Amino acid sequence: MEATHAFPSAMTSCVAARGRSPHLYQGAVAMILVMEKGGALRAKRAAGERAAEMVEDGMVVGLGTGSTVKYAMERLSERQKEGVRILGIPTSLQTAILARELGIPLTTLDDHPDPEIAIDGADQVDRGKRLIKGRGAALTREKIVAAAAARLVIVVDGGKMVDQLHGVVPTEVLPFALTPILASLKTLGAVPVVRDGVAKDGPVISDNGGIIVDAGFGPIKNPEDLERAITMIPGVICTGLFTAFLQKTSVVVGGEKGEARVL
Ligand code: 5RP
Repeated sequence: MEATHAFPSAMTSCVAARGRSPHLYQGAVAMILVMEKGGALRAKRAAGERAAEMVEDGMVVGLGTGSTVKYAMERLSERQKEGVRILGIPTSLQTAILARELGIPLTTLDDHPDPEIAIDGADQVDRGKRLIKGRGAALTREKIVAAAAARLVIVVDGGKMVDQLHGVVPTEVLPFALTPILASLKTLGAVPVVRDGVAKDGPVISDNGGIIVDAGFGPIKNPEDLERAITMIPGVICTGLFTAFLQKTSVVVGGEKGEARVL
């Protein structure tokens, strides 16, 4: 992603240095970016749709949050029309709204505490199927539903697969405890940043009333230890490191040509 953004400006300055108009090249670059975006969307769709095929008639399904899960939900909605009966447990307001739009009936963990399967996205996945989640600020409910489900199916495009987790770790915190938590995260080696809203001044407030702190640790040597350490800070509601579900996790990786493989 960073490389993708760096490429056009490097290219145009190179072109400008040769004395040609950069506009033609900028057009070409814009087209490449659109094509790349199209590829990533195809990959997300492939992953989401493949995961939806894993759902069987009568299952209660944890519904994660995000743009890849959306494709799974669209396919689930189609499968309902083909006669497959499901009940969904949404992990966010956004997913609940989408489920209603798609006609997917919803339930709760109170009524169905043991969903057969949960389908969710991720921001990074390592070779051991450990995850970073939370770009959509839904990590707390996502972790609760993942823990409750018998099976966790993670849907990603190939660009999210990494050898070692290194992305920022979203962490939901009680507003009351924000300042001491920022200090504790620094002690653990992070550069913590309070996530600001888009089209809203001030911090993102989650569906639970929490504040999201994006904690950059760089490459994470021991995700299990780090998850435990962050979780133990008083006032932390949940961290986006998911390392406790490896045995029951499948990862569906979508490819840019619309293919999907299951790990
Ligand atoms: C939301 C999440 C999402 O599942 C994760 O950010 C992936 O989203 P997308 O499929 O849109 O890339 O953790 O809290």
